[in-house]
This record gives sequence, C-alpha cells and structure tokens, in this order.
Amino acid sequence: MTPEHASDLCRQVCELAPVVPVLVVHDPAHAKPLAEALVSGGLPALEVTLRTPAALEVIAEMARVEGGVVGAGTLLTEDDVRAAKDAGASFGVSPGATDRLLDACEAHDLPLLAGAATASEAMKLLERGYTVAKFFPAEASGGAAALKGIGAPIPQVSFCPTGGVNLANARDYLSLPNVMCVGGSWVAPSSMVNSGNWDGIIALAAEAAALPR
Ligand code: 3PG
Repeated sequence: MTPEHASDLCRQVCELAPVVPVLVVHDPAHAKPLAEALVSGGLPALEVTLRTPAALEVIAEMARVEGGVVGAGTLLTEDDVRAAKDAGASFGVSPGATDRLLDACEAHDLPLLAGAATASEAMKLLERGYTVAKFFPAEASGGAAALKGIGAPIPQVSFCPTGGVNLANARDYLSLPNVMCVGGSWVAPSSMVNSGNWDGIIALAAEAAALPR
C-alpha cells in the first residue's frame, strides 16, 4: 500500500466522527458491548491499544460489530503490524514514526496514522508521501496552539491530536483547519467499562459525536 493510499484511507476513518475513542480493554467479554455502545452513540471509528494481553482478541471481536471500524493502536514493531492485521484491524495508529514501522505497514497493507509532534516529524512523513498524522502527545506537545503553528507552514498534513484531549479542550483542536478529528480515552472510562455501564458510555459517545468541527 502506498503512503498516499494509506493517507486516503486514514482520512476516511478520521472523517467518520469528531472523536476516535482510544480503548484499553482488559477483558475480551467487554469488547462487543463496548464497541456496540460507542457505535450506537455515534462514534464508529475505534482504536484498540495493543497494551493489554486481550487486545488482539478484543480487536477481532470488535471488528465483527456492525457499523464499527476498528484499528489497532500502540503499533511499535513489524510483529505488532502483522498481529493487528491478522486480528482484523482496518487501520493502525502509532505514537511516532520509524522507517521500519512505515515499511511494515506499507508491506502488510495496513493504513497507518503515524505519530508526529514537531514540524520536522510532520515534514518527514510528508516527504515520504503521508498527509495524515496523529499529533501526539497533543497537550504535552503544546496543545492546539502548537498544532496551529505547525499548520501554518505545513497545511498539507492533517492531524488527529491525541493525548490529554478531553471534552473541554477538544473544540480548540477541532476548530483548526489541519485537524480531522481527535482521539481520546475519556469516552470509555475504565470505571464504566468494568462496571458494564454501557448506557453511560452511549451518553459520553453521543456528547462527543455532537462536537462541532
Ligand atoms: C494514549 O496514549 O492512551 C492516548 O494518547 C490517549 O490518551 P488520553 O488517555 O490522554 O486520551
């Protein structure tokens, strides 16, 4: 898959809703009801982080939920890419970008939303043909003001800011011309997931889905 095609596919995912839930799921039994709650609340694009032993099983379960588009987050190595693809992930997300990881995603046909936090990192992705990126860690890297600054000289790259983003500051990012959507874990708090409070998660998803952009 070329970087240009990968960018097109990632852009389509990011345009589905203003927020991509970032999910850390420990119990595979939570996968189906959690994905159903988020999709029914209006957030179809889901990022499952590869940070729990259950993550690959969770991706496989969620990929079967109607209306959902499931990606694998925290991709660091080629093994991660292969495992994510085999589990049924439609896209990948990484905190940064290395040539080895980009090579692996291109070889395995997994569109990657690679991380960039500086102008130079965005320029490196652009040189390689990528026009979408995850701005990470968003708040710690200067927040919406920093991303606005990067967008002035490099408007070709569009971002999904993630890391410290919540309902209160999401609007600042979403109002920028170089932001497609934001990522965040606030729509699926572990307390609600662990207690099976799916109605609560539907309400949080609906609130996030209504954010203007
Ligand atoms: C992460 O690293 O887990 C993601 O960037 C989500 O960050 P958040 O928990 O601050 O939304």
